[in-house]
Amino acid sequence: PEDMLFSYRGILYPATLSSPETLEALKSFETRTDDVILAGYPKTGTNWLDQMVKELESTDAKYTEEEMKERISAEKKLETFPRLEFGDPGVYEILVLVRNPKDTAVSYYHFYNNMPVLPSFTSWDEYFAAFMNGKLAWGSYFDHLVEWNKYIDHERIMMISYEELKEDQILGMKRIAAFFGFSLCEEDFPRIAKNTSFQAMKEKSKETHGKFGDILFRKGVVGNWKDLFSKAQNEEMDQKFEDCLGGTKLAAKMKY
Ligand code: PPS
Repeated sequence: PEDMLFSYRGILYPATLSSPETLEALKSFETRTDDVILAGYPKTGTNWLDQMVKELESTDAKYTEEEMKERISAEKKLETFPRLEFGDPGVYEILVLVRNPKDTAVSYYHFYNNMPVLPSFTSWDEYFAAFMNGKLAWGSYFDHLVEWNKYIDHERIMMISYEELKEDQILGMKRIAAFFGFSLCEEDFPRIAKNTSFQAMKEKSKETHGKFGDILFRKGVVGNWKDLFSKAQNEEMDQKFEDCLGGTKLAAKMKY
């Protein structure tokens, strides 16, 4: 199982999805000013956000249906983008998605043990240690948060959390539309919220994600971590979060 992952610049990636050569080649990928970039650690709700942003963007009259199809197919080619580095801030806007690390860890555990491209763990405890040390595919969630926190006030960065989208998706989508400059009508928002609800996306998941639909659209709730965390693990994660991000704006945003 060890050779199922390879390390590229200190971060593990599944070998069946990419190679050091493809990741290296992406360094010369050129962004355009109208690119929409979403940055999210696995299991923070990227499929949900992606669908929302696509619907918001395609409702905006700026693109024809043909142009929208092209934009969506171009996206496919970038699925294995390495951890995004904040390069030239003049070029693009980045929407950064975060989720409570405990729910993220639990979601990723189920994913890890159900996806054939990733090695399995024999127990939750063994997995938990790997999550805490960042010894997982796509690296450490804590490193990811610490890195993005540096840019939290940058005008071309917007941070949004899974929890705030769960609490008020329409408000979240209005903020996203304003950030990217999409213009929509008031009545578009509830329609898009309905199309991208957990139930709606889960029902369509056989079409969109085949047999992995049930793993990608598992529960879609806040607070699921309580099923697996021991008291000691809960304390250990709180401490780690405090050590990495205590007192930061991102911690406040994540209600930590
Ligand atoms: S992946 O595999 O990294 O792309 O996974 P990702 O899409 O980032 O995250 C998967 C989790 O997001 C939940 N999800 C949703 N929650 C609410 N509403 C909608 N529409 C939605 N779609 C996906 C999904 O259920 C995963 O979380 P868990 O906790 O495992 O259910």
